[in-house]
Parts: sequence; C-alpha cells; structure tokens
Amino acid sequence: MSDATVHVGLLGCGNVGAALARLVDEHADLITSRAGVPIEITRVAVQDPTRRRDVKLAPERFTTDAAAIVTDPDIDVVVEVIGGVEPARSLITAALAAGKPVITGNKELIAKHGPELFEAAAAAGVDLLFEASVAGGIPLIRPLRESLAGDRIKRVTGIVNGTTNYILTRMTEEGSSFAEALADAQALGYAEADPTADVEGHDAAAKAAIIATVAFGARVRLDDVHTEGITGITDDDIASARLLGYVVKLLAVAEELDGAVAVRVHPAMVPLHHPLAAVRDSFNAVLIEGEAVGELMLYGRGAGGGPTASAVLGDLVDAVRNLAAGGKGATLTGLVDRPIRPIGDSESQFYLFMEVADRPGVLAAIAGEFGRHGVSIQSMEQRGLGADARLVFITHRAREEDLRATLAALGEVDPVHRVGSVLRVTGDVGSEP
Ligand SMILES: NC(=O)c1ccc[n+]([C@@H]2O[C@H](COP(=O)([O-])OP(=O)(O)OC[C@H]3O[C@@H](n4cnc5c(N)ncnc54)[C@H](OP(=O)(O)O)[C@@H]3O)[C@@H](O)[C@H]2O)c1
Repeated sequence: MSDATVHVGLLGCGNVGAALARLVDEHADLITSRAGVPIEITRVAVQDPTRRRDVKLAPERFTTDAAAIVTDPDIDVVVEVIGGVEPARSLITAALAAGKPVITGNKELIAKHGPELFEAAAAAGVDLLFEASVAGGIPLIRPLRESLAGDRIKRVTGIVNGTTNYILTRMTEEGSSFAEALADAQALGYAEADPTADVEGHDAAAKAAIIATVAFGARVRLDDVHTEGITGITDDDIASARLLGYVVKLLAVAEELDGAVAVRVHPAMVPLHHPLAAVRDSFNAVLIEGEAVGELMLYGRGAGGGPTASAVLGDLVDAVRNLAAGGKGATLTGLVDRPIRPIGDSESQFYLFMEVADRPGVLAAIAGEFGRHGVSIQSMEQRGLGADARLVFITHRAREEDLRATLAALGEVDPVHRVGSVLRVTGDVGSEP
C-alpha cells in the first residue's frame, strides 16, 4: 500500500458505483475501524465524465481511461461495477495481473468466465470477491464459502430475480396480466426497457451458475443452466395455483445428485406453506439445504444501488483487511469438473393444464398415455367449458423425459385440443432432490 490509506480504483459509477461512493463517504469512520485503515475512492472510470452524479468526489478523479486505473501503482484495490463481459473481463484480468485485489458485482462475467478469473486471482495471490453478483445485498457467497465450508450442501433454491418476483406477485395478488404487471415493473424502475434478461430467466440463470460453482466447488457455467422464463405464465396458471394451494415463483435451483450437478431456472408451483412462497414483491430469498445444518433461508433486497453497494463494500473491507495482513482471503480455488445432469433426467412433480373434448372415454384415453410412459397422476380436476372441458393434473414425481414423452403422446390423442401449461411443482423442503 502506498500509504496508510487504501486507494480504490472504481470502475463504473452508475447505480451501484455511485451508491458505493456515497456509503464510503457516509460510513467513513465505521469502515476505517472495521478495515483497520481509511479507504478512499481515488480514481473513477466512467463513460461520460461530464454526467451529473450524486457523489462527493472531485471532478478530477473521473476519467474515461479505465485501463490506466487498473495498472496505476497508486491504486491498491479495484472495484468493477461496469457490468457486461467486455471491457470488464480485460480490466479485471489486468488488475489481477498487476497484483491488485478485485471486487465485482458482475454476474454475467462471473457466470461466463468465473473459473478462469478465479485461477488468475489465485496465481496472482490476490482476492477476487463477488458477493454482489448474486442476490444483491443478501450475504450468500460468503456464508456458502465460509460459514458452511464444513458442510455438504445438497441443494440451493432461490428467488434471485426481483423483477420477475414482482411481476408474479402482482399477477397473483391483484389478478394483473403479465403485460400489465411488466408495465408497472418498468414504471417503478424494477424492469429495464428491454426486460428480456429478467423475464426469460437469463439473469437468474447467471446467478444459478455462480451459486452452483460456489456451493459444489464445481466449474459450472451459464451454458450449463437449463433456463425457462415466465413469459408463458398465464392467468389460468396463476388461478389454478391459487385453487390448488400453490403460488407461482421463478426458481433458481442448484443441487448435487450422485456426484453430478443439476442447475436450472424455471417457474414452479410452490406450496403455500413453503418458506419461499412468502417472498413477495421485488424481494429475493435463498433457501440452502445442507447435510448437517438442515435448512437455512436468507431473505432481503436482491438489487438496487444501496443493497448492492452494501455487499460490494463488505467485500472491499474484507479485501483491505487481507491486504493489511499481507495476504488474501479464501479465493475460490480447486474447482473441479463435475458431470452436469441433463434436465431430462431430473425428477419433479408436474402440473398440467389441458383443454379436451367433453365426451365419454376421454379421461381413460388420457390416463392411458400417462400410464404408458410411467407417469402417475396424483390428482385431477375437471372444469366444464361448454362442449369442452379443462383438465388440471398434478402428477407424482416423474422423470422430466417421461413427462415430455407423455406430452408428445397426448398431442396425438384426438380429443385433446391443447396442452396449455406444464409447470414443475416444488416438493416440501428437505424432500428428495
Ligand atoms: N443495479 C443493481 O441493482 C445491481 C444488482 C446486483 C448487481 N449489479 C451489477 O453491478 C454492475 C453495475 O450495475 P449498475 O446498475 O450500477 O450499472 P449502471 O448504472 O449501468 O452503471 C454502469 C457504469 O459503468 C460505466 N461504464 C460503462 N462502460 C464503461 C467503460 N467502457 N469504461 C468505463 N466506465 C464505463 C458507466 O458510465 P456512465 O455513468 O458515464 O454511463 C456507469 O457509470 C453490473 O455488473 C450489474 O449486473 C447491479
């Protein structure tokens, strides 16, 4: 360190970066006492230095030359909150190579290139910390890596995207359509003008890949995550869920099964008594199931400048303490390649909604297809609809592949007009993965 103060190079000063700068200023005494030395944001890289920002940082600290910051010998620690893969990846790689600890909240980058960046950090002997990359302000990475280091994690199930949770909450509680709820989320600033990354599940998938990497010490990348979003969820699905005692949530699930890792993001029917069912609006929550610890749930704000900056600052204080001690913390090393279990092999209960001709023999024909493919029905409900009927099925646990074969066969059954929706049904906490 160049003097007693730790000099931070901040890459990006948008929602998160500006909130971080404010926190570093407002909590200066607290941070100094916790980190052991004062922390100063010495240089800031942005795209447009003339933009007005609500931060107490002198204009001369701002630059557009992020590459100069990461190699500046006067900078001790780098915080990357630009987002996206490039230039963030090159900047982080250069900072690590220059021996500087790096803190990032960049889920896309860590989900796509985490393993090689962790190796670069280990080779350089410096920290690469990324608490803010999953579930914003909720401490999750550190509890998984440190508090639970001695336990075997069986499964992690999270609501890790606040936008979709807000949309599903509005649809459930106010009967809004998907389009209405999305428009409200955009008006409130919860959803981007282009909401694809949220509503198609890509944002949650990046977080799921990171969770699986940390929980199972395996190289899990974004491409390994089976991803389905919520754009196909209809008012009928929401109404059926309510009638059957469930609520629809977008879940990120990472679990270990017979040495393989299964990672997926999809909407699911969650029983009302399940702890994740109570997570409303834009809140996030993550349920960890460990062999010894049992069930743990972490709940809070998964996004927003303040909550995310709180997570970044926690990492920053940690990195500064490690730096002062002349070393690094528990950088994620020793990741192994594990088989990724294909989605077709996963098992779950399923909810199916279909429209059929209301005439004798139809139910027997449908039940026959379920039986032929080894999928057993737990419950069936019929709702009349003129000459047609709507059938709602909940199956017992079945292999995804068998369920898909059943659906394909049902498509050929003449009285089946349409299979509307198929949703996985979450079992009780602690049930077999
Ligand atoms: N916002 C959240 O709630 C949240 C939650 C969890 C994680 N994160 C993660 O935190 C990161 C930052 O998110 P954010 O919401 O703060 O983004 P943001 O508001 O869009 O801010 C991005 C910042 O990066 C700067 N920037 C962009 N390209 C640059 C370049 N080539 N060189 C230098 N600076 C550049 C921008 O400069 P200008 O200001 O001049 O345009 C801006 O200050 C992302 O990885 C995101 O996924 C965000």
